[in-house]
This record gives sequence, structure tokens and C-alpha cells, in this order.
Amino acid sequence: MDRYAVMGNPIGHSLSPHIHQAFAEQTGQSMLYEAMLVKPDEFSQEVSRFFAEGGKGLNVTVPFKQEAWALAEQLSSDAEVAGAANTLFKNQDNRLQGHNSDGIGLIRDIKQNHNNNIKDKNILVLGAGGATRGILLPLLRELPLSICIANRTLDKAEKLATQFAEYGKVSACGLGDLADGNAGKVDWIINASSASLQGELPPISANILNPGAACYDLMYAREETVFCQWARLAGAAKVMDGLGMLVEQAAESFFLWRGVKPETAEIIKSLKQ
Ligand code: ATR
Repeated sequence: MDRYAVMGNPIGHSLSPHIHQAFAEQTGQSMLYEAMLVKPDEFSQEVSRFFAEGGKGLNVTVPFKQEAWALAEQLSSDAEVAGAANTLFKNQDNRLQGHNSDGIGLIRDIKQNHNNNIKDKNILVLGAGGATRGILLPLLRELPLSICIANRTLDKAEKLATQFAEYGKVSACGLGDLADGNAGKVDWIINASSASLQGELPPISANILNPGAACYDLMYAREETVFCQWARLAGAAKVMDGLGMLVEQAAESFFLWRGVKPETAEIIKSLKQ
């Protein structure tokens, strides 16, 4: 049977094995997908071993996405710009191919599952780390009016804004600008800051939300995330968490490996329950 896996640390709570097994059943693909806990300094040797033993494809999650990017011998444009890869497989020439399906997953979730869009919208992105880097190009391809990256360390947001300026209107601001509303009004806030993993959220004035504004948290959790809580209380018209994105990025990896597109709606629904 064809073998696939997700490598990360920690990995215990990963939903990926469940999602891919469901995709396999739905599409009649014969494959195994497991979660592999990898020690921080053993990623590269584990990847080599996995493919040497006949493994077909890998997903990569925290903290190895950048290392996966560095290991890949060929990169998709999304992975190249993101500086991170979450999907690996060997191409026909036996070279290690790296993709990043996170941004595609986000856009599909917004457009197909939530029937929403970001075209001509003013977007605020919280955070300037790997998660932000992974979604900026796919977001800019949707032609928003502007994207402002807000980060605790302003310098990192400014560097990203400069790097992505060739793809659209991108600026940077500090977290202080969000508290006093100086960042201007926005139609969308996308939370890509890992602060919320610790249940933290910078002070954001509810005044920055335009009427009808949408808020999206790349994170998901059983309980409502701190960002989704803030968004609901601030009066956002639509509040979304990252569960749909997780399933959509998995579907894209599955497609890259198997050449078959799985249906995602049912799985998202069952995971929500
Ligand atoms: P990831 O790959 O998950 O994006 P990362 O590259 O470490 O992780 O980036 C984490 C992001 O969350 C950064 O934007 C970070 O802000 P800094 O660049 O200032 O470090 C942000 N972040 C993490 N903890 C935070 C906190 N307690 N308060 C504010 N921002 C935080």
C-alpha cells in the first residue's frame, strides 16, 4: 500500500491522518497515512529514510516547514515565495519536490466554503512569521485593495511588505496602531500570529472594523479561539476559524500526490461536530 505521513513536533493532536484516511475512502485510493513525531534535529534524515523506504509523500508541520523548503530540490512558486513547504514528494526524475498548500487552502475555504471573497477589500493581517509568509502571495493573487501587516516586531512586518510589494499594495504597522485605530478601517482581519496559541491577543479597537467586516483565524481549536471571541464581540459580520483551511490544504496535498480531488464539505462538517 502507498505510504504517506505528516512529520512534526508535537504531532499527537494532528487531524491530518483522519482527514487523509477519509479522502482515501471517499475516492477509493489504497493508501496509508500516519503521524510521525520527529526529533528537532532529525528531520532531514527522517525525510531521507521515509522516501528511501518507498514512502510516497509527506506533509510537514511545525517546526519543520522551513527545513522542508531548504531540503526540496524543486519548489512550487507558492513554496518558493513562502520560504516554507508543507508538502513533499518525489517527482518523475526522483527529485524532492516541495509545495505549500496553506495559502491555496485558505483561499478555497474563504471562497468555496464561506462563499466570501477578498477582492477589492482592505485586509489586516496579524503577525509576520511563517504563517503570514505562506498566505501573502495567494491573498495578493485575489486582488485585494490593500494588505496591512501588523506585527509586534515592526521591522519584520516592514521587510515582508517590501518583499511582497511587487505583487500588490502591502504596508506594515505596529500593534499600537491597532489599539488606537490609527491603522485605518478594514474589511477583513486575518489572524496569523502565534500569540493566540498561548491565548494572547494584542489590544485591537473594534472601531477598525468596517460594517460587514469578516474575521478569519488561521488557528482552530475545540473551543472558540481568543481571536474569534474578540471578533464576535467586536461585531464582525462573519467569524471563521482555520478548520476549513486545514481540510482544504490537505485536499490540495492529496491532489498533488494522487491526482484526484476529494470532496471536502462532508469532512469539514463531521470535524465541526
Ligand atoms: P509561525 O510560523 O507560526 O508564523 P513564527 O515565524 O515564530 O511562527 O511567527 C510568529 C508570529 O507571531 C510573529 O509575527 C510573532 O511576532 P514577532 O515577529 O514580534 O515575534 C507573533 N507573536 C508570537 N507571540 C506573540 C506575542 N506574545 N505577542 C505578539 N505577537 C506574537
